[in-house]
Amino acid sequence: MEGLQVYHEEYGAAAEVVKTRREEWPALKPYQIRVAIYAAPINPADINMLEGSYLLQPPLPARLGNEAVGVVEDLGDQVEGIYSDDHVIIPFQNKQFWEGLWAEYVVLDYREVLVVPKQISMPQAAMLSVNPLTAYAMLTQFQELNKGEWVVQNLANSGVGRWVIYLAKKLGYKTCNIVRSDASVASLKALGADEVIVYSDHMSQAIKEVAGYARLGLNGVGGNSAKQVAKAIKADGSLVTYGAMGREQMMIGNALLIYRNVSFYGFNRSRWIAQTPREKVCRMYKEIFEMLVADPFTIPVEKTYELGDAPAAVAHAMQSGRQGKILFKMGFF
Ligand SMILES: NC(=O)c1ccc[n+]([C@@H]2O[C@H](COP(=O)([O-])OP(=O)(O)OC[C@H]3O[C@@H](n4cnc5c(N)ncnc54)[C@H](OP(=O)(O)O)[C@@H]3O)[C@@H](O)[C@H]2O)c1
Repeated sequence: MEGLQVYHEEYGAAAEVVKTRREEWPALKPYQIRVAIYAAPINPADINMLEGSYLLQPPLPARLGNEAVGVVEDLGDQVEGIYSDDHVIIPFQNKQFWEGLWAEYVVLDYREVLVVPKQISMPQAAMLSVNPLTAYAMLTQFQELNKGEWVVQNLANSGVGRWVIYLAKKLGYKTCNIVRSDASVASLKALGADEVIVYSDHMSQAIKEVAGYARLGLNGVGGNSAKQVAKAIKADGSLVTYGAMGREQMMIGNALLIYRNVSFYGFNRSRWIAQTPREKVCRMYKEIFEMLVADPFTIPVEKTYELGDAPAAVAHAMQSGRQGKILFKMGFF
């Protein structure tokens, strides 16, 4: 059986080095399943992989795509608990196990997938592997917040940021959200954001005016944005950095360490999964699925592309001011 897949054989300008090819899939071995991929988003990490600046760099030529949802089409021997027609995500890719999910089909070990409830729409399920768990872990694994406490985050209109708002609400926390422009303020408020502040160079004062000092800050930008969020963290609080969209170094005032003992952590989902018992990771995914089924919300999608249009899709994903994610949607669905 043949299928299209997106790959790269060199690093460089992302939209120039991304390519599509047709590849034959191997026969199934024991423990393997074949999954027909339905949809897959383009995330900032995929762009970094193409540019050669990401932590995870499989040997070239390498298939691309870090998350997706698909339908189980065929089962090898000794597969347990996974059935034909199940909807599955593949959240455990890492340095040792890399498939590349921008493809029509993938063949993988059944233990590398999680079944997602069919009530969750396929385009939304395509975005369930990376950002929701990142948000959930950052909200729960660094500080034990009490209900009613504030969390401050920049990059609030990103996929991660929207999940932070949704999950914080479920956990009973309030969110103070920093965005770059006022275009997304209304949609974040509708999602449950308690406060939304448009970035300014000295915004820590504005943050403190609405939220006081928070015990937990989340930083996906770096540079002055991170510094301003950090200045609004209270004594013994934490700032967790998970992204660097602004591509600028963080500079933190000495007083935050000396007088307030603020802790600065980094978070990487793949690394965290590798260091955390599988049952705990699966339980957290299950909790996310249950919340989403009980109270659905939608990560906006700006446009879907076919795999053959990968260069245009990647170029679109790199544009700022998008009103949603860019997704590949596989042709046969
Ligand atoms: N560490 C982890 O485990 C982990 C897991 C998931 C994601 N991440 C990281 O989290 C970040 C967000 O990912 P995502 O999938 O949520 O992204 P996304 O939905 O594609 O959104 C991208 C966001 O980046 C903002 N942005 C783009 N360029 C920027 C700049 N120069 N300065 C400030 N903001 C900028 C965009 O804001 P505008 O709308 O204003 O353009 C938008 O909010 C990425 O850095 C990603 O690598 C990390």
